[in-house]
Amino acid sequence: MNILKNIESIRNDFPILSTKVNGNQLVYFDNAATSQTPNCVIDSISDYYKTLNSNIHRGVHKLSQLATEKYENSRKKFKEHLNANCTSEIIFTSGTTHSINLVSNGFIEFLNEGDEIIVSQLEHHSNIVPWQMLCEKTGAVMKVIPMNEQGELKVSEFLKLLNNKTKIVFINHVSNALGTINPIETVIEKSHAIGAAVLIDGAQAAPHFEIDVKKLNVDFYVFSAHKLCGPTGVGILYGKKEWLEKLPPYQGGGEMIDEVSFEKTTYAELPNKFEAGTPNIAGVIASGIGLDYINSIGLKNIKEYEDYLLDYATSKLKEIEGVKVYGESKNKTSVISFNIGEIHPYDIGSLIDNLGIAVRTGQHCAQPIMDYFNIPGTIRISFCFYNTIEEIDFLVKALKKAIKMLS
Ligand code: ALA
Repeated sequence: MNILKNIESIRNDFPILSTKVNGNQLVYFDNAATSQTPNCVIDSISDYYKTLNSNIHRGVHKLSQLATEKYENSRKKFKEHLNANCTSEIIFTSGTTHSINLVSNGFIEFLNEGDEIIVSQLEHHSNIVPWQMLCEKTGAVMKVIPMNEQGELKVSEFLKLLNNKTKIVFINHVSNALGTINPIETVIEKSHAIGAAVLIDGAQAAPHFEIDVKKLNVDFYVFSAHKLCGPTGVGILYGKKEWLEKLPPYQGGGEMIDEVSFEKTTYAELPNKFEAGTPNIAGVIASGIGLDYINSIGLKNIKEYEDYLLDYATSKLKEIEGVKVYGESKNKTSVISFNIGEIHPYDIGSLIDNLGIAVRTGQHCAQPIMDYFNIPGTIRISFCFYNTIEEIDFLVKALKKAIKMLS
């Protein structure tokens, strides 16, 4: 395994991994919340402010031209990475939530009372609430694809929900709470067959495997750079050109206009139409560097290594008495959500935090999933390619210690 051979040098690229917490070596297992940042990305941000800081698309001066070039170069990198048709199909936003709101808000124009939209029970709140707000504004009706005990979508139920009133379907590619990889190929194909558009929330998929938007034939695909070794505050919205041309702008302001007068304003071409105001220039440039870094390791290698960690950790955790894993689809990635007997997840999380282990506890912004299992939340560990088997062994020991203290 390539990553295993180079794990030490990979870990050395991430300064935070040598942090001590309460005298213990940090073990970072909260990668689904955000991945850590390699030196090349940190340096890119600092270099930008040291040598390039200026506003893009505006100045005739050298710094502005250089910054614009680098910003647009980052767009090219994401276009190549996703296999989009052109750079106009890549919009930079502030994150996945912003991207979803941008699209859902635009759909106000396309929905009438009684139209239907479909969401899944496996969604993050950010892929539920904006659509609910859309329904309130338009009188459209939200339908929900249910899940099964394994944390998988019931595809047969989805097919029953589809009808000629369905206008848009939005599901995540990978569940942030359970790690399930959803059958988005089927969802896209069946939705298109009845003329509905599809938005895929790829926030938990893009860091772990390759995405080809052309092959998927998806209408919108959204994710955040900070889960791909980039900085926070940058989102990537891929949209098919014909959709982005139809959607109205989300925000008005500088840069998104063609001509402005008090009588009428006309809007800029894509992608500027959706990038009003000064964007996160340093962040977008650094996100491109983060993407280069991920690609230098290779998403195929990443998937292989993370699957190895996932299998090892799942079997080790299941050896601990009282552990119940939520979300046991065969098709899952990089996330294990679990509880131990009746112990509250927060108590375990706090105790292992004292030992330097970072996990997320609670509902993971996915309350409908917790309601399905009738639990207050879970302990969630989530992997990145810099995690190790030794860290998993340390977690298992820490959990056993915590159980003793809490029993
Ligand atoms: N959506 C992120 C998570 O699952 C923040 O933790």
